[in-house]
Amino acid sequence: MCGIVGYAGPKASAPSSRPVDVALQGLARLEYRGYDSAGVAVIDDDAVRVTKRAGKLANLREALAKSSGSTETTGRVAIAHTRWATHGGPTDTNAHPHLGGHDHELAVVHNGIIENFATLRADLEADGFRFASETDSEAAAHLVAREMTQTGDLTEAMRRAAASLEGAFTLLAVHRDAPDTVVAARRNSPLVVGLGDGENFLGSDVAAFVDSTKEALEIGQDQVVTVTADDVRIIGFDGAEVTDAARYTIEWDAAAAQKGGYPSFMAKEIHEQAGAVADTLLGRLENGSLKLDEMDIDPSVLRSVDKIVVVACGTAANAGAVAKYAIEHWCRIPTEVELAHEFRYRDPVVTEKTLVVAISQSGETMDTLMAVRHAREQGAKVIALCNTRGSTIPRESDAALYLHVGPEIAVASTKAYLGQIAACYLLGLFLAQVRGNLYPDEIAALMSDLEQIPDQIQQVLDSSSQVERLAQDMKDATSVLFLGRHVGYPTAMEGALKLKEIAYIHAEGFAAGELKHGPIALVEEGQPVFVIVPSPNGRHSLHSKVVSNIQEVRARGARTLVIAEEGDDAVVPYADEVIRVPATRTLFAALLTVIPLQIFSCELATAKGLDVDQPRNLAKSVTVE
Ligand code: M6R
Repeated sequence: MCGIVGYAGPKASAPSSRPVDVALQGLARLEYRGYDSAGVAVIDDDAVRVTKRAGKLANLREALAKSSGSTETTGRVAIAHTRWATHGGPTDTNAHPHLGGHDHELAVVHNGIIENFATLRADLEADGFRFASETDSEAAAHLVAREMTQTGDLTEAMRRAAASLEGAFTLLAVHRDAPDTVVAARRNSPLVVGLGDGENFLGSDVAAFVDSTKEALEIGQDQVVTVTADDVRIIGFDGAEVTDAARYTIEWDAAAAQKGGYPSFMAKEIHEQAGAVADTLLGRLENGSLKLDEMDIDPSVLRSVDKIVVVACGTAANAGAVAKYAIEHWCRIPTEVELAHEFRYRDPVVTEKTLVVAISQSGETMDTLMAVRHAREQGAKVIALCNTRGSTIPRESDAALYLHVGPEIAVASTKAYLGQIAACYLLGLFLAQVRGNLYPDEIAALMSDLEQIPDQIQQVLDSSSQVERLAQDMKDATSVLFLGRHVGYPTAMEGALKLKEIAYIHAEGFAAGELKHGPIALVEEGQPVFVIVPSPNGRHSLHSKVVSNIQEVRARGARTLVIAEEGDDAVVPYADEVIRVPATRTLFAALLTVIPLQIFSCELATAKGLDVDQPRNLAKSVTVE
């Protein structure tokens, strides 16, 4: 939720690369994190200048273009923000940055929620500070400003203010009396530093500055960082200097965060999936044995596990549901999948022998982070399956396995979903190897089939025209159902989620066997129903049961859109459309059958004229509970 950018540098002298431009460029990269409003603050002629607008970044750009004062800034620092609204509606006034201090001598941008803001606000109002907005963030602005008046030092002011805030926050501040400095603080909300040559950056994630530098520094929990063009200093909220911040090089280049000729990031990311899964699998086999060295965990811990709980949200939870089928089948370990926000509050049975697997593309989803913390408090070990290096969930877990699928910008998750499933397979096979549930030649055979999947994904992508046509035809549909069994069930859930979130069409995913227990009442003449059919070469009964389910809905007038393996002729008599995918093992089909559904949603939303990358009401990373 919300994207934050900070910049300190010398670029003011170069045309078209003033701090305000650098900040806007960073915002453009972070807009996927929220797009209710956007704003920027610079220090210009010893004054804090703020420009902000409700709506997307384009509105801010237009406002800046009209206001020569802001565009011709000669200042050396900028902070900027793109918002996903929590406290207060998406208006110009509630947009960030917020001014603080009696003379508006400071500006702040904030990501997160300040839980004690009402108390702080009452105290600050009693002290004569005037509030313009309904936001919790404005309280932080005045608080830092008040501390600055008392201490005369922006770092110390931020440290004192941050230490008295409750909740989750990343805060960035600039002050007219420190015109070369951006100071930031974080608790439970992401913040990274980009280390440039004579310039430095701050961002909610590395996308904010990857155009300018690939060197990054992780900022830890409860830390304050002070950034100028030539210096980065970090202290804890206790005032102690931090000298061991982890520095790393960003693996992907700036082009990865651009559309590369596709009409949307979502379309691009769908078409990157063959390479993405290949990258998740890359280098994991050595001499016929699975090596997950990146996941630094004592094998004896894995041998002692008697239960696995997968915690995740949204698409990541659907990937977790696939993991359950694989892990229970290969490892015979009871595996539960739980929405992270439900897990913590139901007093779950978690012991030292429980392995919690937290799946998160961003590594910042607050619900998942809280589940991780709760599990560790109960003594469980936690492995994070994550895409974003340096993010909070892997850092707070006992071990991490990264997806390596590159940056995912579109709000609707696609390539990360496939990467998550592939990583779950790796984890399941590794557990089976360590615990001796499968023979080495069985693992080698499974890995060999898994390594065929990227080519098979490419085949599905290369034959997308049928689904694209279908999507165009169905752009006026008001309800679409999705059915599947086994790993086809999470695929059905994921197909429905994609359609809901980007095309705003009522969609439901069901376990096909559940249909007759109620949902079949929804089926009437012409109702579109996607059915994901398992391989006829797997367990025969599973395949034939799904074919029966197709017949059941067709008999009631449904338009049946069947995703089936090449050569599966049994479905043909009952299908209005058959969408073919290459043959693979039943378990691995989850990496193929979802792709037509992703393409369907993307095409349909585009045909409706919707912004598929920035669907209404959503943001990419949900960093509030
Ligand atoms: O970053 P995470 O994987 O933790 O995000 C979890 C969900 O918020 C995310 O998958 C969401 O459901 C997507 N918008 C789905 O496309």
